[in-house]
Amino acid sequence: MSTKVVLGAQWGDEGKAKVVDYLTIDADCVVRYQGGANAGHTVKVNGNVFIFHVIPAGILHPGKICVIGNGVVLDPEALFKELKELKERGISVDGRLFISDTAHLVMPYHKALEKAVEENQGSEKLGTTLRGIGPAYRDKVERTYGVRVMDLLDANSLREKLTQTVRAKNQILTRIYGQEPLDERKIVENYIESGEKLRSFVTDTSVLLNRILDENKTVLFEGAQGTLLDVDHGTYPFVTSSNTTAGGACTGTGIGPTRIEEVIGVTKAYTTRVGNGPFPTELLDEEGDRIRELGQEYGATTGRPRRCGWFDATILRRARIVNGLTSLALTRLDILDSLDRLKVCVGYQVEGDLIEEFPTDPRVLERCEPVYEELSGWCSPTTEVRIADELPAQARKYVDRISELIGVPINLISVGPARDATIERK
Ligand code: IMP
Repeated sequence: MSTKVVLGAQWGDEGKAKVVDYLTIDADCVVRYQGGANAGHTVKVNGNVFIFHVIPAGILHPGKICVIGNGVVLDPEALFKELKELKERGISVDGRLFISDTAHLVMPYHKALEKAVEENQGSEKLGTTLRGIGPAYRDKVERTYGVRVMDLLDANSLREKLTQTVRAKNQILTRIYGQEPLDERKIVENYIESGEKLRSFVTDTSVLLNRILDENKTVLFEGAQGTLLDVDHGTYPFVTSSNTTAGGACTGTGIGPTRIEEVIGVTKAYTTRVGNGPFPTELLDEEGDRIRELGQEYGATTGRPRRCGWFDATILRRARIVNGLTSLALTRLDILDSLDRLKVCVGYQVEGDLIEEFPTDPRVLERCEPVYEELSGWCSPTTEVRIADELPAQARKYVDRISELIGVPINLISVGPARDATIERK
């Protein structure tokens, strides 16, 4: 048995899907455990680009089992779109895609309500992906209106439940937010139909996964978003609504923590963030624009330009402790190839004091000034390098310094989007 959690160590978009795709070569099964269609996992194979929002990135490997765990909030519409695209591109999911019967659903009223709330908040908005994630998790935790995948399989009770729920949600939409009501009948009929389309994928995935582990197989847990977007450990309230950290891999799949062996934190060689919220090393100048253009840093889900900044070791130290990281995968090193000077944030200065840990209090974070260490760039291409010792000396120094500052080994380096543009380093 081997289990690896692959998760984002920053604010998402770290290149998790590329790492998952690479590691899937030696895995039997890949599982998504939290989040929903807010994720945009991009994989490039043989020049073809695939963007996954719902289905685990491992699906590109024929024969590998892919699971959508109970911790995910599933948007059937997004799933069907992805299934259609995969079919059109000749990738079969038959008999190897499984969906948890206890996963909650994202419903049209979740998206409508989120849009209404964000609009109502004006400049105070969170800047979410508008995929209905927060409202869907709210209904799950609040319990009165949560709809689970298993509910879709019984048309009569679904009709009753959804009719009541859509009525209640329409009250909020119309009375509080002055929006048009949603069509109750259309939603009910659509979701009954969705149940029929989903039926063959639905199972108790906790039992399935534990059985796979008992057979000594290798399972990868594919995290979505990143550590600082975790609802408990992130920059609250500018976070997503799930546990993006390693613990989510257990609660979001129904396997016990004693079965997790490795936790791989994926981090970019610099930092990005989409949406609002604090970002101490953000570059609001030409340098930031340059990194954005070099890295084509635009959201895979929403197309929004990503905020860009220097690498921040304080963030990674937080990621190390809350996830129990066993190693790191450093991605997008090649994006820095042409910069002649690089900065790494080693800690923050707050009113004369140097702090090395990422503060949990946003009021303290607001007053933090990054303390930088400057390193020379390597100014030569790394995209063709496949052996760590063949990286330019300054690039090796950069990688080693990052690993030293965080106290975690960097075992994988990505130097391009293609599957083979990967360096293993022990
Ligand atoms: P939500 O997950 O759509 O509720 O958005 C909450 C915050 O998380 C916003 O700042 C989003 O931009 C951010 N976010 C959500 N999903 C991702 C992702 O996959 N990558 C990066 N940021 C994300």
